[in-house]
Parts: sequence; C-alpha cells; structure tokens
Amino acid sequence: MSEVAGRQKVNVGLIGFGTVGTGVVKVLAENGRTIKDRLGFELVLKRIADKDIVRDRGVELAPGVLTADAADVLTDPDIDIVIELVGGTTIAKTFIMDALERGKHVVTANKALLSTHGREIFTKTVEKGLEIGFEASVGGGIPIIKSLREGLVGNQIETIFGIINGTSNYILSKMEEEGKSFRDALKDAQTLGIAERNPSLDISGMDSAHKIAILSLLGFGRPVDVKDIFVEGIEDVELCDIQYAKELGYTIKLLAIAKEEAGNLDIRVHPTLLSSQHLLASVRGAKNAIYIKGDLIGESLLYGEGAGEKATSSAVVSDIMDIAECISKGSEITLPNLTFNPRMKVMKRIGMVKSRYYVRFMAVDKPGVLA
Ligand code: HSE
Repeated sequence: MSEVAGRQKVNVGLIGFGTVGTGVVKVLAENGRTIKDRLGFELVLKRIADKDIVRDRGVELAPGVLTADAADVLTDPDIDIVIELVGGTTIAKTFIMDALERGKHVVTANKALLSTHGREIFTKTVEKGLEIGFEASVGGGIPIIKSLREGLVGNQIETIFGIINGTSNYILSKMEEEGKSFRDALKDAQTLGIAERNPSLDISGMDSAHKIAILSLLGFGRPVDVKDIFVEGIEDVELCDIQYAKELGYTIKLLAIAKEEAGNLDIRVHPTLLSSQHLLASVRGAKNAIYIKGDLIGESLLYGEGAGEKATSSAVVSDIMDIAECISKGSEITLPNLTFNPRMKVMKRIGMVKSRYYVRFMAVDKPGVLA
C-alpha cells in the first residue's frame, strides 16, 4: 500500500496485454471513478508488460507504463498486486511464483495453470501470507468462484455441473439451430472470435476439465489431478446425433460434472443428452451456466457470459478490488482451506459410473443383426 500526498493508493502491475489485459486496462480507466468511490482510494496501474509493445490496443497509457520486460513489473517494489494474463502453463507459472516469492498478491485467469500446478501455487500463496484471485478462471462474468468461496461456504456441496465452455456450446447450438456441420459451426465461431485459432482445448473438453477441477477443489475440498478426469469432447458429435436426440426430446450439451457419491468424487466432462425441458437446454450460443446443489440451498443456477474481454475483465477487476481492500485495511488475507476433504476418493474409471447411455451404430438392416 503506497501513501501519496496524504491519500492512499494500491499499485497494480499487469503481465499480458492481450484481449483480457486490454479489457482490464479499459475498465480501470473507464470505471476508475466508481472503483475509487467504492474503495475509498485509487487503484493505479503502474506497469504493463507484454512482448508486443507496438500494437495499438485503442487505450491511452502514460509514458513509461508499457514495458517489454516482465521483470519491470515483478521487481517494482511499489507494485502490490500482479495480474497474470499471459496464459499457458510455463512462463505464466514462473511469473506467478516469482511474484509470490517477492511478496506480491496475484490475480490470474489461468485455469490450465491452476488446475495442473495449483497445489504448488496455492501452497506458496499460503506460505507467504498472500492472496491469489482467480475469479476469471471459470465462467467469465459469472461470479462462481466467489459463490463457492463465500456465498455457499456453509453448504455441503453435492453436485456442481454445467456448461463451462462457450466455444463448444456455440458450436452445438449452431448445429442444432441451423443444421450446420461441426466443421462449419466451428468456422463460424472462429470468424466471430468466439473460438481460438487453435480451438483444440475447447472442443476436446480439456478447457472444461481444467475449469471443473477448480470448481471441484472449492466445492469438495479435494484436489483433483486433471489426468484423473474422464474427458470426451465434441469433435465426434455429428449432425445426425443432434437430430436423433431432438427426435427423442433431448438436446446435446457438453457438460462438466462433479458430484459426491458416498465419499467418492465422480468428475467428468462429456457430451450429454439433456431433456429439452431442462433449464440448461435453453443455454445457447457462447453462454455458460452452472448448477450447484447444496444441502442448504437446494439447487441454484448461475448463468451468463463465460468469456470475452468485458466479462472476464469484470472478474479480474473484482479480484483486484477485493485484494486491494484487504491491503488497505491491513487485514490478513488468506486462501480458504482448499483441502478440507482429503479422505474423499476420486473415481478414476468412467466404467464405474452408472448412467443411461446413447449409443449409435451402423448395422445392416436385417433381422438378428443386433445379436
Ligand atoms: N475458450 C474458452 C471458452 C474461453 O470458449 O469458454 C473462456 O475460458
């Protein structure tokens, strides 16, 4: 916390000036007044680091703010909070660990990193008495992390399931609504900037697996190795599957599911037939929706934008504000206990899951062929 002319401010440094990074810079500028009024002090974006310091992002920066060297953010003693928006699991991890080592709080949107190296990162955060905000890692504009960390913290969580990958949901929606093939629907999503140029993490279901691992950690208090999650993506869903499902009164959605059953954690991602009457069936396009079932609240559904510059920046800025408020009050910031249920076992094989299945196969049309 820095003292400037009798007024206090919290300094923030950003690493990664891409789509979300640019969104965060815009929010801090455009909503700066509201943010200051709410906090009672100013948030100052002191440095921004990115490999590309030339591209025009349509935002005005004071001279000297932008740097090509992340070390300028990490080693700046005045920076209280480092925002990591680089993505990936290699250099982003180095930046986060370095920031924590230097006593800086961290805000990140990096679900791939937290779901694969979360244990090490969370341990370091606690060891250093710091906070790491990761609201933006799941559900973009849906405050699902805060809901689980705060609003629902008194519940025994029974189930968390939902649509947490906007790209896949957009593709499946287009196939159903417009009769498009998987490839054409994917091309549309790429043209609209919904899908990445390399959409493999999305359509393979891995992005959903990273996200459900994080939600599951908060809801069930049991770290899950992403490798233990059964993951099936939407690449093999054909238009005829969607049409057959529709004839039977179902819609196909890529669901991420985590549920507790008799001390076992059943956690998986796969295309699922949902009754057309189910609330999740009406979640269309790139939207996300997450069901939570708890012993106190019963069922609760959160719905909204799962990604995009604005929604994701909203989550990042809310984490920055939370941490800044704690810094300003001098209150101790601690992560909740994320391993409160170490005895819970993770079901490793999809074959152990009892469910109804949809099976389609080609066969010669003659009596006895099914035998
Ligand atoms: N690629 C992700 C999605 C972005 O389509 O949902 C947000 O994590």
